[in-house]
Amino acid sequence: MLSIRNLRSADIPSVIALQQRVYTTIPAFQEPQFESLLREFPTGQVVAELDGEIVGIALSLVILWDDYSLHHTWASVTNDGLFDTHDMGGRTLYGAEVCVDPKTRGQGVGHTLYDARRTLCKAMNLKRIIAGGRLPDYHKVATQMAPEEYAKRVIWGDLYDPVLRFQLDEGFDYCGILHGYLPNDIDSVGNASLIVWLNRDYDSERPTQAPPAGLFEEKS
Ligand SMILES: CC(C)(COP(=O)(O)OP(=O)(O)OC[C@H]1O[C@@H](n2cnc3c(N)ncnc32)[C@H](O)[C@@H]1OP(=O)(O)O)[C@@H](O)C(=O)NCCC(=O)NCCS
Repeated sequence: MLSIRNLRSADIPSVIALQQRVYTTIPAFQEPQFESLLREFPTGQVVAELDGEIVGIALSLVILWDDYSLHHTWASVTNDGLFDTHDMGGRTLYGAEVCVDPKTRGQGVGHTLYDARRTLCKAMNLKRIIAGGRLPDYHKVATQMAPEEYAKRVIWGDLYDPVLRFQLDEGFDYCGILHGYLPNDIDSVGNASLIVWLNRDYDSERPTQAPPAGLFEEKS
């Protein structure tokens, strides 16, 4: 059975091992980075379990988007992975990481994690979710076209990218290419797509709400 819950300190070794299985050139986070996320924003850190085994994670922050909209890299938004850029005065839920175990892809784990992010965004009365999305198949055609053309061809359906296609199908809008977003992402040649999902229930008259305790406990 697939279920989601918040990340716990005891999960950190399993989650590091998961990232090591997923990424070849991008280093897994180190334990202090997960501890920082748990300290800054515990409700924003979600794991997916399939029959009791952690098979996916979605890690998020709340940020002041205006601070990053002009010069936006993964390092700038996360302060080089320290995650102390989390700011409850912000209106934007930022997707810092999502990954699913290669052996359980295509079974809805990613969708469940994205659903958790949407639930969190709505529960906190945040305006939107923003992320830099990897383009892991771009390297296959990088000598033939710029990433902008690659993204357009994925959007109009002539090329397939397992991350951008998934994110578009999850209702995100593509806003352009971020060059040099994650330099050690060799598959994406360092590029990412800037993507956004707008919370239609957002109420600008109300402040950002603290996430309800236990939002993701016992949800399946
Ligand atoms: C992107 C990622 C998180 C998606 O995770 P996932 O668990 O495979 O996602 P889902 O199973 O919900 O959806 C993937 C595809 O399977 C399809 N799918 C989902 N459940 C399905 C089912 N029961 N039967 C058939 N297809 C199914 C979805 O429609 C989707 O298709 P699409 O790619 O054409 O949109 C995953 O590929 C991943 O971890 N990639 C590597 C890490 C990474 O790059 N992360 C992104 C950082 S920006």
